[in-house]
Amino acid sequence: MIGFFYSYCMLNITITQETLGHKTERDALITACFAKPQPERAAYRLRQGIAPIAAYSSVAVQKNRVVGSIRFTPMLLPDKTEVLMLGPLAVDPLLRGQHIGQSLVQHSLRQLQQDNLAGVIVIGDAGYFTALGFDVALSQNLTLPGIIAPLTLLGLEWQAGFLSKQNGMLQRLDAD
Ligand SMILES: CC(C)(COP(=O)(O)OP(=O)(O)OC[C@H]1O[C@@H](n2cnc3c(N)ncnc32)[C@H](O)[C@@H]1OP(=O)(O)O)[C@@H](O)C(=O)NCCC(=O)NCCS
Repeated sequence: MIGFFYSYCMLNITITQETLGHKTERDALITACFAKPQPERAAYRLRQGIAPIAAYSSVAVQKNRVVGSIRFTPMLLPDKTEVLMLGPLAVDPLLRGQHIGQSLVQHSLRQLQQDNLAGVIVIGDAGYFTALGFDVALSQNLTLPGIIAPLTLLGLEWQAGFLSKQNGMLQRLDAD
């Protein structure tokens, strides 16, 4: 743990809420980190055209350069309750494996919890997000409009039952 803080401090990374000034670099980073948009994928179908929540979108900055980004998009649980989905999460390929992604997620989860959100979901690598407190069991009765493999839907709840009692399809925020 001490080694982690040491290397993180040595990297001189600051995590801060994203602003309009970060937009160009953030968008370029996300484009570089992901394959071109795939409309058949569930994350694309749920997020496309829905604005991420700026208050929970953060960037990791090193020497005034955006080297990481995390964003959250609102969507609807089967009972029409709003839930935030984490993603995209992106880290500069040259700086991977140095806990920048993990720090971005932990920073955001603290914020969400402080604001009394009941839970959050993610479509991602099960190993990576389980280590950050997400649990595939919480989202096992949620279905998605599209393909997710090889990724997994995981959930994290601060209010018992918020996700685990749901049963059915996740929907876009603008669903009728
Ligand atoms: C996924 C991503 C954000 C990880 O960022 P990162 O800063 O390199 O990750 P971290 O350094 O915080 O990783 C923390 C730990 O998880 C491990 N890890 C990294 N990727 C992992 C994976 N896919 N599965 C399991 N563990 C993983 C790291 O080895 C590290 O382990 P350690 O604590 O034993 O050293 C980055 O690889 C990326 O931008 N990928 C492309 C976009 C993407 O796939 N985003 C995620 C889906 S939204």
